[in-house]
Amino acid sequence: MNRRPFIAGNWKMYKTSAEAAETAKKLAGLVSGVTNVDVMIAPPFTALAQVHEAIKESSVMLGAQNLFWEKEGAFTGEISPQMVVSAGCRYVIIGHSERRQYFGETDLSVNKKIRAAITNNLVPVFCIGETEKERDADNTFNILDKQIKMGLEGFSPDDLQPVILAYEPVWAIGTGKTATSGQAQEVHLFIRNLLEKLFGKKIAGSVRILYGGSVKPENIKELMSMPDVDGALVGGASLNADKFAEIIKYK
Ligand code: 13P
Repeated sequence: MNRRPFIAGNWKMYKTSAEAAETAKKLAGLVSGVTNVDVMIAPPFTALAQVHEAIKESSVMLGAQNLFWEKEGAFTGEISPQMVVSAGCRYVIIGHSERRQYFGETDLSVNKKIRAAITNNLVPVFCIGETEKERDADNTFNILDKQIKMGLEGFSPDDLQPVILAYEPVWAIGTGKTATSGQAQEVHLFIRNLLEKLFGKKIAGSVRILYGGSVKPENIKELMSMPDVDGALVGGASLNADKFAEIIKYK
């Protein structure tokens, strides 16, 4: 199965609108010749509209870092799928470990958010991953099994057509400790086999599974050489246009 590489930048809580638009514009110029990789950036909500303006003539695509599942209402501080779409987004990151860790996100809320994204024609980038403690206790596969089964509960194979998964071991995020390409491949294969069991061969073969956690220009090539690693979700190294472009041009 030929899966098109997907490389995304999660800008987390970094950059004002002006800074984000400047970086995005620079990135769009640097990767204008890249035709074999899907590129997405997810700036903070406040910068979405301005970044959309900055990249709309380019192949770089826009994503949000979160959403709430309701359409509108008295939900102070929340952003609806429709609002994200109206800001120019095609993608949305859901269930990032920082949201689970610091903002009380659960497998159940992740499930509702994935549903809301799909209903509104947004492509969810569904994040999963184990903590260091869970890995040390040999619980990695149990944790991923639960996150995937609960996150995707109630979906049909057709629903899942657009979904992208991102495996981000929590111990590798922002720590400089990358999973080895062998560790990433082992987990990605486990995820793909589980998807096959739950949703069938076709979906399992076509869903893209990204790796995230201290991805840098120095390790992207090796990670991408693994058969089940279809792309990367990059944090820190995506904040700098030159560095991120280097990652995107890993080939
Ligand atoms: P770093 O690349 O900074 O480790 O962050 C990874 C991440 O959390 C992307 O969503």
